[in-house]
Amino acid sequence: MSRKAFRDVKAYVFDAYGTLFDIGSAAQRLKKELGRKAKPLSDLWRSKQLEYTWLRSLMGCHADFWRVTGDALDYALESHGIEDTALRRRLMNTYLELGAYDDVREALTRLKAAKRRTAILSNGSPKMIETVVQKSGLAPLLDEVLSVEEVAIYKPHPMVYRLAVEHLNAAPDEIAFFSSNPWDVAGAKRFGFRVAWVNRFGQTRERLPDKADAEIKSLAELPKLLGI
Ligand code: 2OP
Repeated sequence: MSRKAFRDVKAYVFDAYGTLFDIGSAAQRLKKELGRKAKPLSDLWRSKQLEYTWLRSLMGCHADFWRVTGDALDYALESHGIEDTALRRRLMNTYLELGAYDDVREALTRLKAAKRRTAILSNGSPKMIETVVQKSGLAPLLDEVLSVEEVAIYKPHPMVYRLAVEHLNAAPDEIAFFSSNPWDVAGAKRFGFRVAWVNRFGQTRERLPDKADAEIKSLAELPKLLGI
């Protein structure tokens, strides 16, 4: 794991869902109601949500992440034979209250203590991301919270990563990007960021162009990776 890959970096940018915030906590929180369906429903919900972002971007018919997340949930609920508007509302609202992973606060605190600039760059709509950042108490540790809504297209389109360049006033290779989503890692690397894959879930390496500069299991490894 080469520290030099992350030398001379001006800003540290994080993906939100699955990287800083635990999306599994959404359905897990309702496990008592969903029983054994909690995990398969949560997995189908997430995979459909991402699929819809990629398809809408390729088709040129953007809708924001709240709408796409709701459409994906409707697909997942129907696939599991669940018709319950109150449950749907509760599940959607969990997206606004997602917990941050245990390693996040310490990692961001160490970056701020080292006077580094930090940001989120997410598919989430401004309302979704601002809300979850506020509720998690991480707002004081983040200099920028950037949503794809500004360019109305989803990751891994390069226009999304360019948002970080413009808002942080840094060249692509002066930005370190962290994501648990391998497709996001590939897009960010292709764009020109220094990239660390936060492989929280022990996923298999994707066969996509451009490998990450480093692979870590959690953000607890961030201080060692960055030498801070
Ligand atoms: C994001 O936060 C979807 O996890 C992805 O942009």
